[in-house]
Amino acid sequence: MARSSGPQAVATVFRDGGSAPPPDLPEGVAVTFDLNRLLEERSGDRVRLHEEHMNARLAQVLRTIGFDRDWVSGRGCYLYDAQGREYLDFLSGFGVYALGRSHPVLKKALQDALAADLANLVQMDCGLLPGLLAEAIVARCHPGIRRAFFCNSGTEAVEAAIKFSRRATGRDRIVYCDHAFHGLSTGSLALNGGKEFRSGFGPLLPGCEAVPLGDIDALERQLAAGDVAAFVFEPIQGKGVYEAGTEYWTAAEAACRRHGTLVVADEVQTGLGRTGRLFCHEHWGLRPDVVTVSKALSGGYVPVGAVLTTDAVWKRVFRSMDAALVHSSTFGSNALAMVAGLATLQVIDDEDLVDRARRTGDLFTKALRPLVDRYEMLVDVRGKGLMIGLEFGRPESRSLRLRWDALERVRTAMFSQLVVVPLFDRHRILTQVAADGVNIVKLLPPLVAGEDEVDMFVAALEDVMEEAHKGMGLYMDVGWTMARGLLKRSR
Ligand SMILES: Cc1ncc(COP(=O)(O)O)c(C=O)c1O
Repeated sequence: MARSSGPQAVATVFRDGGSAPPPDLPEGVAVTFDLNRLLEERSGDRVRLHEEHMNARLAQVLRTIGFDRDWVSGRGCYLYDAQGREYLDFLSGFGVYALGRSHPVLKKALQDALAADLANLVQMDCGLLPGLLAEAIVARCHPGIRRAFFCNSGTEAVEAAIKFSRRATGRDRIVYCDHAFHGLSTGSLALNGGKEFRSGFGPLLPGCEAVPLGDIDALERQLAAGDVAAFVFEPIQGKGVYEAGTEYWTAAEAACRRHGTLVVADEVQTGLGRTGRLFCHEHWGLRPDVVTVSKALSGGYVPVGAVLTTDAVWKRVFRSMDAALVHSSTFGSNALAMVAGLATLQVIDDEDLVDRARRTGDLFTKALRPLVDRYEMLVDVRGKGLMIGLEFGRPESRSLRLRWDALERVRTAMFSQLVVVPLFDRHRILTQVAADGVNIVKLLPPLVAGEDEVDMFVAALEDVMEEAHKGMGLYMDVGWTMARGLLKRSR
């Protein structure tokens, strides 16, 4: 596919430099807010604003690795910078852009919702839109799932799942997996398998215990005391794209049932088609009591989270009229989020995106797996559908090992940066390192990606791996990018 560049992308954002004043304003009120003008006038301030008023450390990191671009627009699988350059987005806003960016159906649905001046957030009502979204999403899950609770993010969905599990079972302990990521608010953080996130924020929720993913004996030992409310897991782990097989999941679910522990599948990242099934737990034939969803349900526009439960769980939480509001969230069922969710589910069906993700995932696997034999430092390609992990490892041959060791002495898991930086800098493909301290790069393309995007990525990866195995050119290049970033920083 030809990679367009030019000023058209800039024009989509800075089109008119102004817009017509809104109708229905009280007479005599001056319109001083103009989004297009604001974006145009202040575009040069973006980094400085982050350095002065937001996360200056993140701004430093982005400069150092050369990721500090002036993004102006996004469409489908692509992002555009202020110079009109096109980038293939294999990060998808951490999985938010399942439908691709600026999907026309989502835009139209949200514009219609705004134009309708809906009676939003009445609170003391039974809104139609949340009911419709609940109906649509539970209908797509296994038959035991009957209820939906809406909130605003992934971590909020996990917090609600923890509360629901405790209240439904009358138990307080939660078991989770090593390497897990369930969000960063304090309840979810208590289930986080990475020390780097937890350190300094404790004490966290007591009674939470980690088990290695795939180790059924360790899980059984935790459940045996009969005091575990829930086993909370990602069906495929986001931090590292680690999987366990059907045998493990079948045994884990059976063990939970035997010990009265709820099965809680966190599908915030894996849900809604990402892995080639609508819910990833379907790959393992699971029937969880609770399922959390977020990211893709937003259509890339409006933050939303959902907790899907069985009737049995729901009845034990909202057990009487007094408990009708025992768990709620002010913005949880807001109209724009509900519209985004409804439109997203419809687009997933209409464009057959679940099957498309499976087919495109198969193309990736077919093209990437042979590279493991070709390149010593690429040791594994894994995942399902469009959630793909590329793992790099210490090579056998002496000259390559010396280079690898030198890099890892600079910083653990530095090799993965040697892949991510040139993919971005040379090939204009945005990817991410899957977790702190591991040489794993994760690919999360939009589900609308197809053969062209697979070809583009595979050619780029081959180029990067070829160079990494050949001489010092790539190492110098990445070193130079980082040095330039550091220099910019110290100015
Ligand atoms: C599996 C999983 N659960 C929960 C979360 C937290 O979601 P959020 O960042 O919306 O709070 C994430 C975020 O990446 C996730 O991958």
